[in-house]
Amino acid sequence: MDTIILPGEADAIDKAVKLLNEGELVAIPTETVYGLAASSFDAKAVDKIFAAKMRPQDNPLISHIASIDMLGMVADNVPSQAFVLADAFWPGPLTLVLPKAKKLADNVCAGLESAAVRMPNHKVALAIIKQCGFPLAAPSANLSGSPSPTSADHVFSDLNGKIKLIIDGGVCDVGVESTVVSLCGEKPVLLRPGGVSKEQLQNVLSCEVIVANAVLNAVQSNEKVQSPGMKYKHYAPKAKVVLVKGSLESFNNFVNSNLGEGVYRLCFNGEENTHASSYVCYGDKNDAYAQAHNIFAALRQLDTLNAQTVYVRCPSQDGVSLAVYNRLLRASAFNVIEV
Ligand code: TXA
Ligand code: MG
Repeated sequence: MDTIILPGEADAIDKAVKLLNEGELVAIPTETVYGLAASSFDAKAVDKIFAAKMRPQDNPLISHIASIDMLGMVADNVPSQAFVLADAFWPGPLTLVLPKAKKLADNVCAGLESAAVRMPNHKVALAIIKQCGFPLAAPSANLSGSPSPTSADHVFSDLNGKIKLIIDGGVCDVGVESTVVSLCGEKPVLLRPGGVSKEQLQNVLSCEVIVANAVLNAVQSNEKVQSPGMKYKHYAPKAKVVLVKGSLESFNNFVNSNLGEGVYRLCFNGEENTHASSYVCYGDKNDAYAQAHNIFAALRQLDTLNAQTVYVRCPSQDGVSLAVYNRLLRASAFNVIEV
């Protein structure tokens, strides 16, 4: 199969809509990361997503909608907190886990009784969904386990030959996947941190948001978790990644005593010249949005550079930094050290 990349203009959008109606997959841009889309109502098309990504069958997908009117196509008995959050953050990088609507193909939710839904803040994605008139199931458009794609080129390098069309909508603004919050229990639970922070959610809801254990801790592959995606090693470049906590000086001393072939630093902007070893930067130390925007491209770049071992300067763990920290924990398979 030939894979083509088209800029997100009207004729490409028409072509995407036609393919999606025919049960094909299309990679689409969103403000978070690129998504690999199929109709949420077409189980056969959804099966193709799992196959193309080599995604474990028990990991459910997010359905994407273009207006609040479409929410009923994905979820039933929607709690009032969902409308409060939708009002505050949609379109935007927030996914809600809600009781599942009957019409949704079962494989979208991997057999769960709940469904994940979000309204992306990207004009091309919104135009495609609106024209389709049905929700689009779309996981990140990478091969399972590799860093999420934040450009059309990233998608091409993972899925070339496996899908017909990639719509190029530029580099993703946010750069990490959406925040996932479950509203299926008594209290809201943060299942995955992203571009909307826990603090923002709590402000809008005026109540506590519980952070799921899997956000900060490794879970066993046989453990039952609320968000199946969190049990898989994720976002990992080919290199061994070590997340290093401590001051810049201790970090540099540590790298000094661990030099070798293919050793790289993944550091904050402005720190590159404090040490002689090879490096990739991923944003200013105090700019969580820049770190989120850059992190996946930086991990992919380390592969291109043939890095063997990567020592990472650790971001903070509040606000949007929690999302960056969570992705780095997974990229390192929870290999965290303090120096
Ligand atoms: O920003 C994003 O969310 C991107 C763009 C394309 O929208 N999508 C994305 O999808 O990151 P994916 O499949 O890579 O991650 C979806 C996450 C997984 O961790 C999955 O386990 C969780 O959402 N999820 C989906 N449905 C769920 C459900 N019913 N209950 C709990 N977790 C769910
Ligand atoms: Mg993903």
